[in-house]
Amino acid sequence: MNDYNWWQRAVIYEVYVRSFRDSDGDGVGDLPGVIEKLPYLQDLGVDAIWLTPFYKSPMVDNGYDVSDYDHVDPLFGTDEDFGRLVAEAHARGMKVVIDIVVNHTSSEHPWFRESRSSVDSPYRDWYHWTKTPTRWGSQFGGPAWHFDETTGEYYLGLFSAEQPDLNWKNPAVRAAVKEMMRRWAGRGVDGFRLDVISLIGKPDEPKDGAANAWGFTDWHWQVANAPEAHEYIRELHREVFEPYHLMTVGEASGVTLEESLKYSGRTREELDMVFQFEHVGLDGSETWKWTHGRIPVPQLKEVLFHWQEGLSEDGWNGLFWCNHDQPRIVSRLGDEGVYRERSAKMLATCLHGMKGTPFVYQGEELGMTNVVFSAVDELQDIESVNAYEALTSSGRYTPEEMLSILSEKSRDNARTPMPWDFGENAEAQVLQEDSVWSYYKELIRLRHENDCLAFGSFRRLTGVPDDVSAYLRVSDAETLLVVCNFSGETRELVLPEWKGAHRLIGNVLDSLFLETGQLEPYEAAIYSKA
Ligand code: GLC
Repeated sequence: MNDYNWWQRAVIYEVYVRSFRDSDGDGVGDLPGVIEKLPYLQDLGVDAIWLTPFYKSPMVDNGYDVSDYDHVDPLFGTDEDFGRLVAEAHARGMKVVIDIVVNHTSSEHPWFRESRSSVDSPYRDWYHWTKTPTRWGSQFGGPAWHFDETTGEYYLGLFSAEQPDLNWKNPAVRAAVKEMMRRWAGRGVDGFRLDVISLIGKPDEPKDGAANAWGFTDWHWQVANAPEAHEYIRELHREVFEPYHLMTVGEASGVTLEESLKYSGRTREELDMVFQFEHVGLDGSETWKWTHGRIPVPQLKEVLFHWQEGLSEDGWNGLFWCNHDQPRIVSRLGDEGVYRERSAKMLATCLHGMKGTPFVYQGEELGMTNVVFSAVDELQDIESVNAYEALTSSGRYTPEEMLSILSEKSRDNARTPMPWDFGENAEAQVLQEDSVWSYYKELIRLRHENDCLAFGSFRRLTGVPDDVSAYLRVSDAETLLVVCNFSGETRELVLPEWKGAHRLIGNVLDSLFLETGQLEPYEAAIYSKA
């Protein structure tokens, strides 16, 4: 395998800067903290780090509301710290991917301040303004069209009033975004994670979709993956990604397989891969994610396998269980109790056995679990706080019910500080051969060394118990079997043709699976046959 792009056999580690490592004791993680922990990441073996936004920001959405794209927020350090981080990561053989948030800016960005100042401002058309708003609802609650007193018109903010959406139709906006991207390329970054990039194409005539539980209407059907989004991304590819050799992964909630092939198809010249969210959306309801409920394993398998099969010839999968917007996967699909470590390893095996680029979110490699929130003031996330207000004041949930739902679903579950100290924590796990951390390290090594794991085609196995996932990876020289028991009970799967195969990795010592067909609770392994 000589002819591939670096990211095709890479594992990328997401650093949520504000809760990764606090180097100056102010209670917030920072860039010097990331530099301090580069040896830890190098030891784990990851090829690249993705840094969440560290730009100047009023922090209404923890930095996903950027008021200055070119400079580091003092909370996170200095511009020099960023330069040092890139140099030191590169010196350790790791690439740096930054988060680019250009569907919207902060309402404090000079472009928006100008835009809202007058209908005649040269920046007026950099954002979306109207006198006749639809009843679209915003992602973080309330309407998506926000009334602005200065000019008596409404502007669009699909996420919150403090995150006005840029008008990509305006060539001046696209030119400014491209220049900003080139400046970051010039500062040595190797790639971009493009925040909600599937939303940048907006309709000329916004229309109301179906009403949601709060009486607002849906816009996704008219906005997400609009043909214009593909056009704008191709322009970015041509003028920035390609000439500056940048790796790109687009966040594309609501994306279908068909759309994903457009974004990441080899001849399309758009993105290298996207994040799709079908598998982590399986535990929602009509109140979106604000409901109890576990992801059903049979549906989960169906979704994951559908994406594996659909992108087997063309396109590429961005593989993830966790990120800064998702609850912890062990709490969600594994076991927080006696099988915490084993189930964390099982989940890792299932994901890292697939074809694509696996992403590890900070703390996932330690098997971290969700938090229990017992009061609303323990929540920081704008989405969680607003949902609490909306769903308790409307009487949909009691405060107790809502807190218990938030303990399962809140984005704050992922945003607790990395536990660096000894004990159950990072530094202890690094030293233990059988820790979750060491297991991740081994999976990452396998992806680097095993061609079949990196590039082999995917084939699902049928006739498998409902809560067991089993699939093959096939190359000319080798076949791999990846088997994972998602249940806390023993399961049976007899595969005589695999008897005597070599186990590359597994989470049960002295497993009898190949001999007896018995899978222990949460057992997982990868076997190889020449
Ligand atoms: C993406 C980010 C999320 C943010 C939102 C708005 O979904 O991952 O954290 O709140 O975009 O920028």
